[in-house]
Amino acid sequence: MSTQSWIYTALSKSDAFRKWLHRALCAWERPVYNGYKDPEVMALIKQVCRESDMRITTAEAFALYAVARAQRTVEGAYAEVGVYRGGSTKLIAEAKGDKPLHIFDTFAGLPDASAHDEGFFRKGMFAASLEAVQHYLADYPNLHFHPGWFPETAAPVAEENFAFVFLDVDLYQSTKDGIAFFYPRLSPGGVLMTHDYQFPGVRRAFEEAGLVPQVIELANAMAMVVKR
Ligand SMILES: C[S@@+](CC[C@H](N)C(=O)[O-])C[C@H]1O[C@@H](n2cnc3c(N)ncnc32)[C@H](O)[C@@H]1O
Repeated sequence: MSTQSWIYTALSKSDAFRKWLHRALCAWERPVYNGYKDPEVMALIKQVCRESDMRITTAEAFALYAVARAQRTVEGAYAEVGVYRGGSTKLIAEAKGDKPLHIFDTFAGLPDASAHDEGFFRKGMFAASLEAVQHYLADYPNLHFHPGWFPETAAPVAEENFAFVFLDVDLYQSTKDGIAFFYPRLSPGGVLMTHDYQFPGVRRAFEEAGLVPQVIELANAMAMVVKR
């Protein structure tokens, strides 16, 4: 068993330990990055981390915000699949300006993992309340919620083009479905960003789509491709 598999197996035993470790990592990263990143963005990330049990680290959150903000200059809407309690969604909502943001999640947690995924994931993990997330994000304009199982929920945006898409779905099949739906709909210069690129299922989905040669790996488990 790899060190990484061992860590994830250990983390899967206890939600409390997982949350404690995540908070500790957020707290540890802050001083490291605070020194040379925009202090307002760092304060926002710190606040979101506190409020929402956000499942990305501080360095990942900064990369998410920075890329989402830059994509304002590209034609098309924004989308996120994998919202949980809305932490990463809030960062995208802060960065997007007036762009529409399409928000996809089961809100019942993860679907079944496949044979390509790490044993860490369980069905129903990261379940969250749709109403609570809507309330959390109520101040942001032009948000569109599509609760339910993606890609079944994608029909209302089938005619859209996208400037920025963030996938944070943990699993092979959900990542594969996300790439298959969104990559052809990205505008030229559009970005498809993913979390969890270190997981074999997520990486496999990018391999099968033929996108690995153009993947740009970012902080920690973040990666992205730019549509050419
Ligand atoms: C790790 S959580 C997202 C964390 C969030 N981005 C954050 O940073 O706080 C993964 C989410 O993906 C969602 N998810 C995974 N596969 C899905 C699918 N096929 N359709 C809809 N939601 C899915 C789960 O419900 C879960 O909320």
